[in-house]
Amino acid sequence: MTQLSPSILSADFAHLANDCAAVMNAGADMLHFDVMDGHFVPNISFGLPVLRSLHKALPEALLDVHLMISEPMRYAEEFAKAGAGIITFHYECGQVAETIAAIKATGCKVGLSIKPATPAEALLPYLKDLDLILVMSVEPGFGGQKFMPAALDKLRFLQDACAQRGLAPYLEVDGGVDLKGSGKACVEAGANLLVAGSAVFAAPSPAEAVQAFRAL
Ligand code: DX5
Ligand code: ZN
Repeated sequence: MTQLSPSILSADFAHLANDCAAVMNAGADMLHFDVMDGHFVPNISFGLPVLRSLHKALPEALLDVHLMISEPMRYAEEFAKAGAGIITFHYECGQVAETIAAIKATGCKVGLSIKPATPAEALLPYLKDLDLILVMSVEPGFGGQKFMPAALDKLRFLQDACAQRGLAPYLEVDGGVDLKGSGKACVEAGANLLVAGSAVFAAPSPAEAVQAFRAL
């Protein structure tokens, strides 16, 4: 069954707890929390204080934290303490093995992500250590961009690579995932966890959008 992680980047921050409760009640599996530092990506979003508040408001919700920041290792412990359940960082930041170990030491699940220009093969040496693989299907930094179909080949490749090794991590895809076509294509290519920001929170009924995604 495909799981869904709605990205709160497209939520109404003045009503964040309510919006998140609505999508969780509608059947979302977790909440995707996009942290941007204005350095690794050309945008700034939100960080630790917002995560703490969200965790306090919805203590049962699994928080899927996507760190689009330089030096993710430096902040792993603080994000774990603030309520993260999964911490995903970017391969392009370097110090990959060390950062995986640092995140594991916090007790959180660990994810590794690649930007569109990074080949899927880059992840192979780390597969056995990961709980989650995140394939970016847009340039990270902004919600509401167009899906890049090259992500589909990466999903197929990574799904095969995991199956060959007897591994079954979350295979997550993020960026431009919608109900019109890209969502279904991602599931067919092997994704088992879809991130959707605007397709959920900008929909007339986010709850109905969640149900439709889960039926893909
Ligand atoms: C982009 C973020 C995404 C973003 C996706 O850098 O990582 O999680 O919220 O938004 P949509 O689904 O609107 O492309
Ligand atoms: Zn994201």
